[in-house]
This record gives sequence, structure tokens and C-alpha cells, in this order.
Amino acid sequence: MGNHSILIVDDEAPNREYLSEVLSEEGYTVATAANGKDAVARLSQDSFHIVLTDLKMPELDGLGVIQHLIDNKLNTIGILYTGYGSVKTAVDAMKLGAFDYITKPFKADEIKVVVKKALDHLALQEENLYLKQQLKAKYKFENIVGTSEKMQKIFSLIDKVASTDSTVLILGESGTGKELVARALHFNSSRSVNPFVPVNCGAIPEELLESELFGHEKGAFTGAFRTRIGRFELASSGSIFLDEISEMSPNLQVKLLRVIQEREFERVGGVKSIRADLRIIAATNRNLEEEVTNGRFREDLYYRLNVIPLHLPPLRERIEDIPLLVKHFLNKFNNGKSPKKAEFSKKAVSALMHYRWPGNVRELENLVERMVVLCDSPVIEADDLPEKVLIGAMGTASAVPLIDLPEAGIDLSTAVNEFERSIIIQALNKSNWVKNRAAKLLHVNRTTLVEKIKKQKLEKPTETNM
Ligand SMILES: Nc1ncnc2c1ncn2[C@@H]1O[C@H](COP(=O)(O)OP(=O)(O)OP(=O)(O)O)[C@@H](O)[C@H]1O
Ligand SMILES: [Mg+2]
Repeated sequence: MGNHSILIVDDEAPNREYLSEVLSEEGYTVATAANGKDAVARLSQDSFHIVLTDLKMPELDGLGVIQHLIDNKLNTIGILYTGYGSVKTAVDAMKLGAFDYITKPFKADEIKVVVKKALDHLALQEENLYLKQQLKAKYKFENIVGTSEKMQKIFSLIDKVASTDSTVLILGESGTGKELVARALHFNSSRSVNPFVPVNCGAIPEELLESELFGHEKGAFTGAFRTRIGRFELASSGSIFLDEISEMSPNLQVKLLRVIQEREFERVGGVKSIRADLRIIAATNRNLEEEVTNGRFREDLYYRLNVIPLHLPPLRERIEDIPLLVKHFLNKFNNGKSPKKAEFSKKAVSALMHYRWPGNVRELENLVERMVVLCDSPVIEADDLPEKVLIGAMGTASAVPLIDLPEAGIDLSTAVNEFERSIIIQALNKSNWVKNRAAKLLHVNRTTLVEKIKKQKLEKPTETNM
């Protein structure tokens, strides 16, 4: 029965003992509370899948416990049991939101069945929630998964911008989903019935790229045996996606600028102007402003492209999306030939959340695929993960160390404080107490660091005790 936990609430000890025994034998983790108040206190400390409560208890009765679950939106199923006479109250409890009720005297089989039914219901609820999130993503943005605030902002930006013809510049590290977003922009626009034409400016040699983009007339150059339609023409009434735009040669940058400004172009070797009725979406994983400063990218073109910048955050800045992405990719790869359905253990997912993901979502996707194919057992444990992920998750200066929550719990603010202190000390030691350098290591500005040093009462060690 896995790790399902049940809280039994009853003021009569023999009842608690009996139910504990029956349910422990079934493999559930069982806890007990001697009255409603006790139960509420327990619920604020631990989470339970099910609360099984007696109706009549002093102070806070079973209905009060159920009400507490509902009011606090706890993801816990409430089941009530009552003496024979109080079936009407049991029905009231169901109206209130209890999942089911049992009448005393207890029958072991009945208890087992009701509990099992409740757990199935819980599993279904979770699955539904996931499917709903999925459906929403699918319907709107072609499988772009993400519930983090940062991704929600991206979604609303796509929403606003898709229906316009404005040029969009998508920025972001490799594997953050730039192409996915470009497609979403196109397929959510009125141009969606017309072509979406991607061009990888970095992958096509310069001498070919020009005729690839603009096409050429027959005889325009040696080897131009027939007229060829370029990508700009192919994208007519649709969108063109200029990927790795920073790799475009200066010569082509001028020509692209003209397309944007005048909305027309000529085929190579041609004289007739062709109208460019298309939406331009460009992307790069480089810092284009830097490229401009270094003279590698035209400033005027940069401004023409950067009408609406859309910055995709690296995965490590939205780690809360990782569990959902893992589910998304598991669904994708579990649907392959392999009959087994693999999943990651909680610990494994936690390790994934602590790794830095230099290759971003693509790296995560590849890892999930590899694990599904290679792992023999249906549950992928943290130990099964590649070493670099585990080491990365264990706490280099740049990754948060993975600690297990002790049984007795932990004081969050003390733990966070200790972690902050140790990381600041490391940064200061690494940079010989040059605060500018330490601040850089911690990606904060100097003032913030100085404040934190003060708060932590840290002092530069003297030569003797260094
Ligand atoms: N939010 C997301 N939800 C689901 N899948 C995603 C998401 N972001 C990226 N992916 C997947 O990750 C892979 C990489 O995405 P994509 O090709 O769009 O990245 P990119 O930014 O264009 O990378 P590069 O700069 O290397 O070209 C794709 O298979 C894509 O489907
Ligand atoms: Mg790409």
C-alpha cells in the first residue's frame, strides 16, 4: 500500500487500538488522536492521506474535524464513523465534504474497502489535476509545461503578443524552449493556417544562407540551374523563425534589415521586388547587446528585432517546474514501446531539482528518456541518476545541498540562516574577503552582501587564525 498514512481519531482507546491494528496490517502508516482537538494539532504538523474519525467526542466532534479539513483545504480525505442511531449526522457529514461514512460496530472488511476506495479516489484526483494542467498547456501553447511564476509571465506575454504582427526576439540559454515558444506564437496567431518556416542561421554556410532566405533566379550564380523560392517567400502570410540570429553575417544583416524596414526583398540575381507579408520571430542564446558592443551585430538591426523581447529563464531559476516537466516527459517516453511504466522516486525528483541543468529543459528531457530506457525497475531512485547530477545536487558553491528532513522536523528559518551563513563564508574565503568578488560569486550586489555580513556578524579572520 506504499506510504499511505491514516489518522484515527477516537476518544475511546479500544476503538483506536482496533482500527490501528486492522489498518496497520494492511500496510498503512497509522497515527492516532484521542479527540478532535488533538487531531487538529496533529494535522498542523503532519499530512495524512485519510482521517478516520469518530463522530461523538467531547470538545471538537467528528463533524468539526471534517470541517477543519474542508476549511483548510487540506488534501486529506475525511471518513466518519458513527453509532447506529446517527446515520442522519453521517449524511450531513457527507454533505459537508466527508468522503464516506461507516457505522459501528466495525467490520474489518468494510473498513478496508472504504479506505481503499478513498485512496483510489485520491490517486484519481491527483491524476485529474495533472491532466487538467496538461490539457491547459496543450490547448494553449503546444505542450509548454510550467506553473512557475516566471513561466506564467511568459504565457501571458505569448497570449498578448501572438495575435499581433510585432517582431519578437526570444532570448534564453540553450534548451530553454525558444523554438517551442516561437511555434506557440505562430500557432496562436491568425497566421496559424499559413506556414511556420524555421531557419537555423548558424547551421547554414554563409554563401548558401542568402539564397536559402531570399531564393534565387535561374543563372544567378554558377550552379543556379533553376529559379528557387527562398524561405521568406515560403513563409508568405505565415511566420519566419530566424534561429541563432547572432550567427548571421554582416552582409546578410544588412539585407535582413531592409526586409524588416521595407517589407520587401528580391531573389538573388532578380530585379522584381517581392512583398514580405510575414511575421518575424528571431532567437538567440547569446547576449545580443554584447554582440552589438563588440561590433559583431548591427545596432540598427538589433533595435528592429528587439521590439518585443521575450526572455526565457534558465531551468535552475524555475526549479518548481521540474516535477511537472518530469511527469510530462515520463508520459511522453513511457508511451513508447516499453511496456513498463517508469517513475522517479521523491528523492530522485528532489535531486533533479538541485542540479544546475546547464542544458536546461533539453538536458532534463534527454535524461528522462535515458532513465526510462535504461532503468530496469519501475521506480527510478536517486542512486540511479548519473553521477554528475548527484554531485551537482550535493552542494557545490553554486548548488543548494540536498538535506533530508529529519523525522523530528527542522526549524526552517534557522536552517536557512545557517545555510546562508555557510555559503557567504565560503564566498568570502574564496575571494580573500574582497567583497566585490564575493558578491559576484553570490550573484548579489555589494551592498546586499555587506548587509548580510553585518547581520551574520562575520569578521575577517586575522592572519593568525586564518
Ligand atoms: N516548458 C517546456 N515544456 C515542455 N517541453 C519543453 C519546455 N521547454 C523546452 N522543452 C523541450 O525541450 C527541448 C528543447 O527546447 P527548444 O528546442 O525549444 O529549446 P531552444 O531554446 O530552442 O534550444 P537551443 O538554443 O539549443 O536551440 C525540446 O524538445 C522541447 O520540446
Ligand atoms: Mg532552438
